[in-house]
Amino acid sequence: MKIGIIGSGEVAKRLAAGFLKHGHEVTLGTREANKLADFAKANPKAKIGRFADAAKFGEVVVLAVKGSAASMALEAAGAANLAGKTVIDTSNPIADAPPENGVLRYFTSLENSLMEQLQKQFTGVHFVKAFNSVGSAVMVNPQFEGGRPSMFIAGNDADAKKTVSGLLDQFGWEVEDMGSAEAARVIEPLCILWCIPGFARNDWFHAFKVLR
Ligand SMILES: NC(=O)c1ccc[n+]([C@@H]2O[C@H](COP(=O)([O-])OP(=O)(O)OC[C@H]3O[C@@H](n4cnc5c(N)ncnc54)[C@H](OP(=O)(O)O)[C@@H]3O)[C@@H](O)[C@H]2O)c1
Repeated sequence: MKIGIIGSGEVAKRLAAGFLKHGHEVTLGTREANKLADFAKANPKAKIGRFADAAKFGEVVVLAVKGSAASMALEAAGAANLAGKTVIDTSNPIADAPPENGVLRYFTSLENSLMEQLQKQFTGVHFVKAFNSVGSAVMVNPQFEGGRPSMFIAGNDADAKKTVSGLLDQFGWEVEDMGSAEAARVIEPLCILWCIPGFARNDWFHAFKVLR
């Protein structure tokens, strides 16, 4: 598939490398292409452009920017370039204030997630929350002693979630579909939980798994 990635940070680069590894075509979008110079050198098949270039290119688009900038980044990407497309929303609404005893602060509430805000603003886009509740280092085919970890997803469009589920399967995840966009209210805060062992004892290699 053609994957457009809006972002130049760790998540954007890890996922881009993963998509390339699995044979997809990738364009990353950034406001500052020089940030991706080393990545481009190491991954010559990746194309680099502006946010709008990534949005236009992608059959599936990944949103991987700072949560507080997500709305601005999507505006710059262009609603018309994203219309009718699946957008994998990896972002978290992390506030600027520092964590309290290793517990991140969010600028959203349990009644209003970031993804719902984005879904209301960009009505023609099929957002699917995914990849937000694990660190970038374990996003692509992580090898855990406990087997395949679980990825919680949510979104209003069944076809979009089917597409994302296929990609998650390639990336070595078991998919746990939590339903419509409102479920992002609980999936986004899972990042807070995931980060606690990291801040407490530098343990950043773990993931969630649902047992049945
Ligand atoms: N790091 C992780 O392990 C991890 C794991 C799960 C989820 N997440 C979430 O995934 C997202 C990406 O995380 P990250 O660590 O890769 O990168 P990040 O440092 O959170 O964000 C970097 C990206 O945000 C964009 N950005 C920042 N300010 C902006 C503004 N004012 N307007 C437009 N764009 C702006 C940057 O654009 P330019 O390219 O133009 O500079 C860059 O692409 C975040 O929401 C984060 O919470 C991160």
